[in-house]
Amino acid sequence: MDVEKVRKSFAKHFDGASGSLYASPGRINLIGEHTDYNGGFVFPGAIDKGMVAEIKLNGTDKVRAVALDLNETAEFGLNENDQPSQGWAKYIFGVCREIIKRGGEISGFDTAFSGDVPLGAGMSSSAALESTYAFALNDLFTLGIDKFELAKIGQATEHNYVGVMCGIMDQFASIFGKEGSLMLLDCRSLEHKYFPFNPEGYRLVLLDSVIKHELADSAYNKRRQSCERVAATIRKNHPEVEFLRDATIDMLNEVKSEISEEDYMRAQYVIEEVQRVMDVCDALEKGDYETVGDRMYKTHYGMSKLYEVSCEELDFLNDTAKKCGVTGSRVMGGGFGGCTINLVKEELYDDFVKEAFRSYKDKFGHEPKLYDVVISDGARKLC
Ligand code: GLA
Repeated sequence: MDVEKVRKSFAKHFDGASGSLYASPGRINLIGEHTDYNGGFVFPGAIDKGMVAEIKLNGTDKVRAVALDLNETAEFGLNENDQPSQGWAKYIFGVCREIIKRGGEISGFDTAFSGDVPLGAGMSSSAALESTYAFALNDLFTLGIDKFELAKIGQATEHNYVGVMCGIMDQFASIFGKEGSLMLLDCRSLEHKYFPFNPEGYRLVLLDSVIKHELADSAYNKRRQSCERVAATIRKNHPEVEFLRDATIDMLNEVKSEISEEDYMRAQYVIEEVQRVMDVCDALEKGDYETVGDRMYKTHYGMSKLYEVSCEELDFLNDTAKKCGVTGSRVMGGGFGGCTINLVKEELYDDFVKEAFRSYKDKFGHEPKLYDVVISDGARKLC
């Protein structure tokens, strides 16, 4: 993250002034995809790529914001009908509004931000942005909002101002991240446990397909609706089923004739994925990376064939990993483009990356991108 760039640009835009600097990271997720809004488990970690923002109160009731990477500015008030038109500014506006709705008293500020989380790569650049501002405003206005609520403010911003009915994983990881550790998060209770993650002899590699499908947001919301429909149908016979996380394949089979084939496949994927997260947890405790990898491949299969959130390019990267003998590989994040996450033995790393680049370029005419990530701390004040 380029702190100096933010400092210089802030001073340039705001008459030589300087403010406080805050940062929040993007995230990876080892396993547990599309389980968060089903009340299930996820296994994310914050990374060393994120957003950094400089902020200074300006004594007015207006926010003046600069998106440095886009070279765009926005100015907006803090009332509900002051919603800015720029997509990126809606995130900052949404965070302000969600704080105000919770009784937080805030006023205008000047801000500039920049980031190095690749956009649309499934690494949660939007959660990084939300967490940066939720954390910063809580600190600057000494609002005393706890970290759980800060994560929920980011999620509510997505729901109410962006239109993505996401779960809590991304914002939670961005706020609660811990250097060197992944976290097992129960998305219903928000109980979480840190797992130091340093798989000796392996590397985690992200390969970005550089594909971002249009309409991904509405397809995401449709997946969630399918899950909620199935959970509601199962609940008629099993009132204890609040979310699909509580359901079993037997329960799903009981309602098979009442739901569409598509909804059945979506629910099957989720129920199996919740179990896979548990399997990976056990396997990690034993240092059994073969099982971790096996479940990653199974997740990919489910996301591709049952949940249908993969695409040709991601399936190709997954197949390439398999052919090269990579221990585990799968599409990461919401899907519809973005990255695969790969658990690769050190000695295979060079050959795998070379082969993935060569064959992907051969097939699709351009190379994927490679990211090495370091598991890092969550939202924080820099100075
Ligand atoms: C996106 C959402 C998350 C989660 C993942 C899929 O990243 O923001 O809440 O649902 O997709 O696991």
